[in-house]
Amino acid sequence: MKNSTKFIIVELEGRKIRIPQGLTVIEALWDTGYDVKRGIGCLSGLCGACTVAFIEKGSTKVKFGLGCQKVAEEGLNVIMMPCFPSRAARYAMEAMAHPLEELGAHYPELYTCNDCGACNVCPEWINVAGVMKFAKDGDYEAAASRVTDCIMCGLCASRCPRSIAPQYVALYIQRALARERPFPPNLAKRLAQVESLAYETEWSRIAAMGDDELKALCAAMEGL
Ligand code: SF4
Ligand code: SF4
Ligand code: FES
Repeated sequence: MKNSTKFIIVELEGRKIRIPQGLTVIEALWDTGYDVKRGIGCLSGLCGACTVAFIEKGSTKVKFGLGCQKVAEEGLNVIMMPCFPSRAARYAMEAMAHPLEELGAHYPELYTCNDCGACNVCPEWINVAGVMKFAKDGDYEAAASRVTDCIMCGLCASRCPRSIAPQYVALYIQRALARERPFPPNLAKRLAQVESLAYETEWSRIAAMGDDELKALCAAMEGL
């Protein structure tokens, strides 16, 4: 039978190489015998471990992305990014009366941000420079609401000329806001149920079920 696999030429980690079409960068590296383990996590675009830098055919612009999501196309020139050092402040937020007021004490470099936009390389399409501007200006709700998709890949920090780690600044703001908001009543109710083992009898019943009973239970729940 005729093999219909199409092949393309890409430059992987500085080596021109022929690979089957349709592979992601990580798959292409594995396909060509690279024993890549560092920088591989979920393979689903969620953990942010597999950052890559690349230039597409015909372009002069270096772009950034995730190796497990970026599909290798003809002429792609790509490398895996090294793990980049970012400073994460040490703090005990539970001991702070108003953690948002202490943001500057923990991340003073935030206020050296010059709005250059170099951090706008986010694989989750977050406008990182915009988030940092809101943070500097004290509009914390605006900053937090725009960064919920952050996967902590650190690409933004790797570009910043002022050594700001936007992902950690944003995380601080999200944590601080969560502490300053009233505790969600539904969550409080559910935690109390868990602590009082309210579901223990039901879990024991489910744990004792066989495959057929479990399938029937799932089917019944899907119909709810
Ligand atoms: S905000 Fe920064 S750390 Fe978060 S996903 Fe975007 S580039 Fe990665
Ligand atoms: S790269 Fe750094 S200095 Fe430039 S906008 Fe982003 S956080 Fe600010
Ligand atoms: S391996 Fe987790 S985002 Fe790529």
